[in-house]
Amino acid sequence: MSKNKYTVTAALPYANGPLHLGHVAGVYLPSDIFVRFLRMNQHDVAFICGSDEHGAAITLRAKKDGTSPQEIVDKYNGVIRKAFEDFGISFDIFHRTSEKIHHETAQDFFKVLEEKGHFTKETTQQYFDEEHDQFLADRYITGTCPNCKNENAYGDQCESCGSTLSPTDLINPKSTLSGKELVMKETSHWYLPMERHEEWLTQWIKEGKLNGVQQHDPKKWRNQVTGQCMSWIDSGLRSRAMTRDLEWGVKVPVKGADGKVLYVWLDAPIGYISATKQWALDNGNDWKDYWTGDRKLVHFIGKDNIVFHAIIFPILLKAHEGLILPDNVPAYEFLNLEGDKFSTSRNWAVWLHEYIADYPEKLDELKYVLTSIAPETKDSEFTWKEYQTRINSELADILGNFVNRALVLTQKYYDGIVPELGELTAYDKEVLYQMEAIPGRISQLVYDYKLRDAQAEAMNLARLGNKYLADTEPWKLVKTDAKRVETIMNIALQITANLSIVLQPFIPATAQKLSEFLNFNSSDWSEAGKNNLIIAGASTNKPFILFSKIEDEMVAKEVAKLEESKVVEVNHTPQKEEASFEEFTKMDIRTGEILEAEKVKKANKLLKLLVDTGLDQRTIVSGIAEHYSPEDIIGKKVSVLMNLAPRKIRGVESQGMILMAENEKGELSFVVPEKDFISGSEVR
Ligand code: MF3
Ligand code: ZN
Repeated sequence: MSKNKYTVTAALPYANGPLHLGHVAGVYLPSDIFVRFLRMNQHDVAFICGSDEHGAAITLRAKKDGTSPQEIVDKYNGVIRKAFEDFGISFDIFHRTSEKIHHETAQDFFKVLEEKGHFTKETTQQYFDEEHDQFLADRYITGTCPNCKNENAYGDQCESCGSTLSPTDLINPKSTLSGKELVMKETSHWYLPMERHEEWLTQWIKEGKLNGVQQHDPKKWRNQVTGQCMSWIDSGLRSRAMTRDLEWGVKVPVKGADGKVLYVWLDAPIGYISATKQWALDNGNDWKDYWTGDRKLVHFIGKDNIVFHAIIFPILLKAHEGLILPDNVPAYEFLNLEGDKFSTSRNWAVWLHEYIADYPEKLDELKYVLTSIAPETKDSEFTWKEYQTRINSELADILGNFVNRALVLTQKYYDGIVPELGELTAYDKEVLYQMEAIPGRISQLVYDYKLRDAQAEAMNLARLGNKYLADTEPWKLVKTDAKRVETIMNIALQITANLSIVLQPFIPATAQKLSEFLNFNSSDWSEAGKNNLIIAGASTNKPFILFSKIEDEMVAKEVAKLEESKVVEVNHTPQKEEASFEEFTKMDIRTGEILEAEKVKKANKLLKLLVDTGLDQRTIVSGIAEHYSPEDIIGKKVSVLMNLAPRKIRGVESQGMILMAENEKGELSFVVPEKDFISGSEVR
């Protein structure tokens, strides 16, 4: 049987921040597992990624940090590259869209499409920032969302209600650069009239056919991918601008296009091709072999990337001619974190590079947990508690326990030498039969992109082994039937060897440890299932504990760290109704000093204060008892509203009010002059 060839891509991460577990669980880990599996099955495969270094997200970040886009992309390309390396994501190349070879490739691509007449040039009115003398990318425009009235919606999207917007939809649009209102100005751009492609796209997505010829199996596409594409197509494809008026990006390679760059969603996916070119160059191959002919192109992405990979990029690839279209676009839903969305701006995230730095010896543990909860068909959630449970009760108690027993007993009974496989009981045969069936089931699941189930199936082999030893109890039997124990231990070691193969795509470092325990090394998937991987008489090594238990303290520490570093989004109460100057000047506010303080009986919140106001000494009741204890505030400077009508509170007459500020957490603070003023100074 000739093996399918694959070009597998993982969405190019924006080089504007580090990676968090959501990115890992929903793109990079599954693509890595898939590729490791393909390699073990001798498929010819190229695994392509790189950083996405253009687009408004990068320039915006540079503006915020007061630095240049180049500095931002250099920094984060480095951070991301290192995290991938340390975590062991096995890309063949991790490239960059700022490389010269990419700019050339993207420009050539654009020219081919331009010459074939796939673009139209249109002149439109667009928002212009006069202070900065530039047209604004959609992301640079904010205003009120027409749907949910969120005042901080972007020109391309409202993050509050999730609706897709265009800048002209916004109420009260403003520039994020100058904060000012915008003017409309004329500009021309190259557009991709997507409506021309509706017909073939529909057939290609629904039936997997191109010009009547079967390309892929549409049943293997995830429902949400097909669904999103069809809902786009059904609501009518429109023309989309493929160029932008920006400085940072790939220059439009046509005369009269000064100050214009390629739209980032045109430039970035072409990055897969330029990365392949660079990799082929480095290895003396021809890049075209990876983008033409009978090769399967697979894009691993997050769900927010679906239309770009399953509609727009395929249109571009087909229009270019001669290049293959994706065979599948496995898109992942989102991973949440401890009951909330991952958010970079609120710093609600577990960062991959931080996890690696804190737990360098627990990388497989993280891989295992993330694959177990991967958001394949619906959003899912990472919690540190589940991290602990999965590691302790699955990796440690099942896999670790089984492997440890198999190897320790072999040491104890046979000095580590593999015993003979003797006569098989019906139970032995049943166990071996099940062992043989597992690799095929895993394969099927992996080829169907069901990696969660595939990993669970691999763990079933450890479960099988664990149960086999628990049922046969060789540690008891050894006293009465030593011959039988030899067979049992041989089988346990065969299972362990099988585990070193089937676990390799998922937890490669652990699989490697098993290989070292057994002096057995195979990365050939077709070996998996066999009951004679280990030969009697071969020697095995003393094992060590594979997975240490996760303590409650670690869980508590990590949850606390999240809570502490969380940035709270402040929702200030709206501004009050207008007040006239006369109304304001009616209030007599002065500085004062607290002379005495005591609790008000039977009132938790109240303190009775004696305050020196400069004019007199008076009693004021203040609702601050939950924030200040009486002895701590004697001598404190305060501001007093003097002419507030006196009120009886809990039987005490209060002659005025102390001014307090309250923050979003409900904490209180005295409002006082910044200098040390004498009591009685007026506030106005
Ligand atoms: N940078 C994009 C994101 O993080 C993904 C780009 S994928 C590519 O959403 F195909 F455009 F490269
Ligand atoms: Zn909205």
